[in-house]
Amino acid sequence: MTDTVEQIIAVDAHETDVLDPRTDAPAGKEPVTMAPVDLGPIHVPTPVVLSPMAGVTNWPFRVLCEEYGPDGLYVAEMITARALVARNPKALRLCRFAPSERIRSLQLYGVNPAIVEQAARIVVDEDMADHVDLNFGCPVPKVTRRGGGSALPWKTDLFREIIQRVVKVCSAANIPVTAKIRVGIDHSHETFMEAGHIAQEEGCAAVTLHARTTAEYYGGHSDWSRIGELVGALDIPVFGNGDIWGADDALEMVRETGCAGVAIGRGCQGRPWLFADIRNAFAGSDERVNPTLGAVCDVIMRHARLLVEFYDGDERMAVHDLRKHIAWYLKGFPVGGTTRRAFMECENLADVERETSRLDPAITFPERVKDKPRGRVRFAKKVHLPYGWLDSRVTTHEERETLFGDDPMDAGY
Ligand SMILES: Cc1cc2nc3c(=O)[nH]c(=O)nc-3n(C[C@H](O)[C@H](O)[C@H](O)COP(=O)(O)O)c2cc1C
Repeated sequence: MTDTVEQIIAVDAHETDVLDPRTDAPAGKEPVTMAPVDLGPIHVPTPVVLSPMAGVTNWPFRVLCEEYGPDGLYVAEMITARALVARNPKALRLCRFAPSERIRSLQLYGVNPAIVEQAARIVVDEDMADHVDLNFGCPVPKVTRRGGGSALPWKTDLFREIIQRVVKVCSAANIPVTAKIRVGIDHSHETFMEAGHIAQEEGCAAVTLHARTTAEYYGGHSDWSRIGELVGALDIPVFGNGDIWGADDALEMVRETGCAGVAIGRGCQGRPWLFADIRNAFAGSDERVNPTLGAVCDVIMRHARLLVEFYDGDERMAVHDLRKHIAWYLKGFPVGGTTRRAFMECENLADVERETSRLDPAITFPERVKDKPRGRVRFAKKVHLPYGWLDSRVTTHEERETLFGDDPMDAGY
């Protein structure tokens, strides 16, 4: 997570308000009926996924989301395979789950097939997870410039080898593996169709498609028609991802694409109750959670306490982690700059409690931000790739030598 809280607030206050959020979906559309999805032995009654988000989807946040939508799939943020293999304490912390989590779902990231395989072996041997997702969607320059994330499916040999090795290790323990991909590097270098087929051939239980290219980063609106194309081409379940800001968007994506389920990223930042809304929508109910400011403050305090547990009692670390969430929780509420700044200066639980107690609990949820875009929304300035990456769809010996010596331990979003 490289954004500062100030950047998040700035983005939330300005850029997201001018996007077309697709939330004004015409009423009277045909009803959507969703079937449960099975990923190997894992049964997902409501096919909604918390999309992995670095710096966001650690277990405290996942627990909150799962409380609102108890039968979806909640994926941890990506763990760098090399960091796990090196037993980096930060990486190990990110691999922790709360006892209440129904499905322990980890995401691995890596470029070197041997290292990713080793990481998968640790996960299996130490019974660290029930499900492994592989990250082939990260657009961040420090990742793609090393051939990782969304740059990787361009090299079909490397992509296939990573999946093959991880599936082999995980299938021995009956752990399903899924792949998360983007449309491609840009529209002249699309990879999703081939990547989807490879993932299916190599035994992935499902694929999630974030319907943007690397070049599109988080800008504009994702192109859901690409999700529909992939659904039509594959036999395994496809989860659609991109720009679901409210339950109606989830219904609309399913109607438009026929996807087996939806994956939610930014839409649930500061709104873990979105999972209740989507669960209701998928069950044919119009009931939605629209918490008052008082109810939001209760969620903030609960989130804060869970984070203190996550950080082994270190309130300062917990409250620093919470800051970005507070900015998201308060988005759109009539809370002045002074109060927002006071939250950003909190150093312990008592500080957060004091600031929340100053807010008017009766204030209703702001219509202005309901089901509207939030979080990062930028286009990429430029896609960073290893030298000569686009020249061929397979890796050369030299490329492998260079890449594998340089698998970043601190790759992040
Ligand atoms: C702050 C942030 C961190 C992210 N971290 C990850 C990650 O660790 N792994 C991953 O596969 N995708 C990651 N993503 C991408 C999301 O999972 C999701 O694919 C993307 O945000 C599009 O979905 P959305 O429109 O619902 O946000 C991240 C996105 C954001 C905004």
